[in-house]
Amino acid sequence: MLRNRNHIKLSFVMLPGRGATRLILKLEESVRIQNTCKSLLSTQDVMKREKKYAAHNYHPLPVALCRGEGVFVWDIEGKRYFDYLSGYSANNFGHCHPKIVKALQDQSAVLHHTSRAFYSDKLGEYAEVITKLFGYDKLMPMNTGVEAGDTACKIARKWGYKKKNIPRDEAKIIFAANNFWGRSLAAISASTDPSSFEGYGPFLPGFSCIPYDDLSALERELKNPLVCAYMMEPIQGEAGVIVPSDGYLKSIRELCTKYNVLWIADEIQTGLGRTGRRLAVDYENVLPDILVLGKALGGGVYPVSACLANDDIMMVIEPGTHGSTFGGNPLASKVAIASLEVLEEENVAENALKMGNKFRAELRKKLNSKVVIEVRGKGLLNAIVINQNHAEAWDICLKLKEEGLIAKHTHEYIVRFAPPLIISEEQLEESMEIIIRTINNIGTI
Ligand SMILES: Cc1ncc(COP(=O)(O)O)c(C=O)c1O
Repeated sequence: MLRNRNHIKLSFVMLPGRGATRLILKLEESVRIQNTCKSLLSTQDVMKREKKYAAHNYHPLPVALCRGEGVFVWDIEGKRYFDYLSGYSANNFGHCHPKIVKALQDQSAVLHHTSRAFYSDKLGEYAEVITKLFGYDKLMPMNTGVEAGDTACKIARKWGYKKKNIPRDEAKIIFAANNFWGRSLAAISASTDPSSFEGYGPFLPGFSCIPYDDLSALERELKNPLVCAYMMEPIQGEAGVIVPSDGYLKSIRELCTKYNVLWIADEIQTGLGRTGRRLAVDYENVLPDILVLGKALGGGVYPVSACLANDDIMMVIEPGTHGSTFGGNPLASKVAIASLEVLEEENVAENALKMGNKFRAELRKKLNSKVVIEVRGKGLLNAIVINQNHAEAWDICLKLKEEGLIAKHTHEYIVRFAPPLIISEEQLEESMEIIIRTINNIGTI
């Protein structure tokens, strides 16, 4: 029995054949899918039930998944798909990574949750691992991405009052237009996207937006002594994978230092190898004042998020003034340690860099440029921009699904391609072939 890098168990069966020995590679997966996905329901049944009992706050592709392994997922009818969404980049290390699943299983059988009313033997271990890896003094453990973003804003405001002497309740945080950091009232108060904020007011005061990748606009804002932080994504993910100009991150670092404003980098989607480096800010060798992580930190199996900062910033938060029932529990801590170990041990970022370069180069060369007007991204956070005269992103996603690859659009004319970072070259080639064939066929319709 072998395990390939996508954790699929392979068994080799030797059979005699026409004078030579034939090597038959039998994937045990097909048997196991049938067992784990045995269902009396059809895809239509699954969709109907979910629509009846679950809120309609998403518009899913019509596919009913029941199993995942490595870069693949299977639907209840046994069809296999390349997963080019990776659970919105939570599954950077693939589905059911054995080390992460084992950490989850082992720790859940011993001690899963204590609350931080007590010490646990795991939180300190996790905090030491993550702070040393990213070069900060302290970890603030949270659960979901939006909570970590909210926490970063709270830390920045408190720092503004305690360290920058901003008058009470007057602190301002600047964001970049088209940001996305979740769905809470704070996050949508910072949003410029009507589909996020429309109908949910009133909104939080003290937030304003400037254009992304615009240093003059940033400098103008930073001169205001009431500003405590600038919060941004090093590549804007949900906005459609918007990559800023080279040098932008370095200049943000310099300007924020010059004007005594905290730089909050939201690396919830870009972090942990996704863009071809451990962090996207590593491309410019800079450290934000508050680093926000989530998604893949929990290996896709458990919600784990984090704010990292040095003591002069993090220690403005006193006991009892911020918290979370589940944040930093022993289970989350062990899952996060395992995820960070996989990131480092399996050279995940290097693979994302290599595969991403190949992916963009091939797509630029081979996609019909009448249908796809741009291919952009870094590492394995990529997007194609569709010519709206030819097709809609949703229809392309439907066709890709038919061909065995699931991806999701952001806005009507952008399709994001973000497979698990452990994808092999062979799998990349097979999946690129699907994308190129499917899209170029649309071009000829
Ligand atoms: C950059 C960024 N920040 C924050 C979030 C919110 O994370 P969560 O959905 O876990 O709250 C997201 C989610 O897509 C994101 O892309």
